[in-house]
Amino acid sequence: MKVIAVSKTGGLENLCIEERPDPSPGPGEILVRWRATSLNFHDYLVAVGAIPVEEGRIPMSDGAGEVLEVGQGVNTWKKGDHVMSMFFPNWQEGRPSLAKTRAIMGESVDGCMAEKACLPAQSVTAIPQGYSFAEAATLPCAGLTAWRALIEEGALRPGQKVLVEGTGGVSIFGLQLARAAGARVFATTSSPQKAERLKAMGVEAVVNYREDERWGKTLFKLSGGGMDHVLDVGGGSTMQQSIEAAAIGGHIAAIGILGNGRKGEITFPKLFFKHLRMTGLAVGSRYMQQAMVDALENSNLRPVIDRSFGFEELAQAFQYQASAAHFGKIVVEF
Ligand SMILES: NC(=O)c1ccc[n+]([C@@H]2O[C@H](COP(=O)([O-])OP(=O)(O)OC[C@H]3O[C@@H](n4cnc5c(N)ncnc54)[C@H](OP(=O)(O)O)[C@@H]3O)[C@@H](O)[C@H]2O)c1
Repeated sequence: MKVIAVSKTGGLENLCIEERPDPSPGPGEILVRWRATSLNFHDYLVAVGAIPVEEGRIPMSDGAGEVLEVGQGVNTWKKGDHVMSMFFPNWQEGRPSLAKTRAIMGESVDGCMAEKACLPAQSVTAIPQGYSFAEAATLPCAGLTAWRALIEEGALRPGQKVLVEGTGGVSIFGLQLARAAGARVFATTSSPQKAERLKAMGVEAVVNYREDERWGKTLFKLSGGGMDHVLDVGGGSTMQQSIEAAAIGGHIAAIGILGNGRKGEITFPKLFFKHLRMTGLAVGSRYMQQAMVDALENSNLRPVIDRSFGFEELAQAFQYQASAAHFGKIVVEF
């Protein structure tokens, strides 16, 4: 079987296609034929060596595919079932802990950039019925993160106001979930063309964060009192304005860092005088992923796939991701 492996030195030019023996499932395991993966910023950091991994590690946390064989004692899956990976394959349910979150697909354990893989039966979930493999492959990282931020941690209710920042995978899925839940959605982007697409998807007002550096204040005013939920994807690049944009009593999900966002300044009195609740979160558990799958099966929501690449084109797919030309998700199908 073909895999793509990461070199310890990192670098997209060092991603190498290798031929490895077909794996065979042990007790409690399933053999999956991965059919699609999707790109996340975390995968990019692994690929370029910014997150150090073992030599030969198979990258990509997201995968969707078909069960080819089940090992001894597995009765939860059968040949032909369509399944998708979990970012934290050991986090089944409950609060996160070190033991539950130490294993990360495509970082500390092999990921989904392989034609075949053996995994513990409980480290996948079903994909939503009717979803293609490519659509399902957008869900385990970006989809679940937006789901957890808005639904699990945010307890989003119809009529509430939600801010999504930029037009990447997490934000576009957050926009779709929020609209499906009857919320009012506001957004930022750096691109006038993307602003039009956001509006066509039901976004009430869009602010260009490059043209308006006080976009948080602007959105607070435009929304008539601020956001009940903010998906902050930029960390130090965005958090101060996310706090400005939030309504009194609002919820901010601290999800990511963009640009120079590893560190940054915030005005602390705004946190308490606005009675804000801030949740730092990383993806979610199997229980949450299953809840998301159940909800998607009862909705018309379909992930937005910007572009699909082939197996041999992973490096080009990462280059395209780094260009930030995309809207929604980038996938690789094989
Ligand atoms: N905590 C978690 O569990 C989790 C899970 C998934 C992702 N993340 C993190 O969340 C962040 C977003 O991930 P993603 O996969 O959705 O990203 P993505 O697909 O790479 O998209 C990022 C988008 O953000 C916008 N952007 C870029 N620089 C910006 C800045 N300085 N200020 C505001 N917006 C900016 C751009 O949108 P426009 O082109 O529209 O301007 C860009 O397309 C990343 O840091 C990622 O690592 C965290």
